[in-house]
Amino acid sequence: MEKGKQIYEGKAKILYETDSPDYLIQYFKDDATAFNAKKRGTIQDKGIFNNKISTKIFEYLEAEGIPTHYEKTLNDREMLVKRVEIVPIEVIIRNVAAGSLCRLLKLEEGLKLSEPILDFCYKKDELDDPLVSEYHVRALGWATDEEIQEIKKYTFKVNELMTKFFLAVNLDLIDFKLEFGRFKGKIILADEMSPDTCRLWEVGTGKKMDKDRFRRDMGNVEEAYQEVLSRVSK
Ligand SMILES: Nc1ncnc2c1ncn2[C@@H]1O[C@H](COP(=O)(O)OP(=O)(O)OP(=O)(O)O)[C@@H](O)[C@H]1O
Ligand SMILES: [Mg+2]
Repeated sequence: MEKGKQIYEGKAKILYETDSPDYLIQYFKDDATAFNAKKRGTIQDKGIFNNKISTKIFEYLEAEGIPTHYEKTLNDREMLVKRVEIVPIEVIIRNVAAGSLCRLLKLEEGLKLSEPILDFCYKKDELDDPLVSEYHVRALGWATDEEIQEIKKYTFKVNELMTKFFLAVNLDLIDFKLEFGRFKGKIILADEMSPDTCRLWEVGTGKKMDKDRFRRDMGNVEEAYQEVLSRVSK
């Protein structure tokens, strides 16, 4: 498939057209941002790690019956994906309290939740991606009720599958963010799944193996991404 013109450059990835209207090339950059781009930097080779980690995860989820945009990995930094119309919602699922949930409710980081919490955030950088409810999503026409039910069903299933997947390599899946899109009338999982979008803590030690190392200037950021890649490649 031929690489065409760039259609979007985001904080972490660039999207290119291809010679087919149904496919895009997703290029993973090393740029890192946090706190809604108030903090910026680069993580050496992050794009390569995230492309490879996302590949492993999408292949696993596809094999387990989750429809995703993943088609194939083209090289170190590029993935061929189905071109979707993104639902403008970030779907966050949490197993343990961390990040914005702790800030919002003054909870102690690490509090185990008695069941997963699913949050919707409206994808709008100017508004800092505010937390919204299912009612906002329906009432403002961001997704239909049928699509919301589908998104929830897939998100809980992905959480179960990914919790198992990471536990097998001694990582606790604390929380993660998903994006969905419409492809030929169906909802499918899009974007990426990587230490940029998942919180992963090493079982036993609690060592953070994700973008929180960058957010909090904890050091050894590259090493953590590399370690996650090496574990998921097992
Ligand atoms: N299969 C796809 N088809 C079309 N768009 C996609 C697909 N997968 C992901 N996207 C979108 O492509 C962009 C990826 O770039 P990146 O993650 O760098 O964006 P971002 O800076 O995080 O901005 P945004 O707030 O839009 O996510 C995102 O806007 C994402 O929603
Ligand atoms: Mg993004």
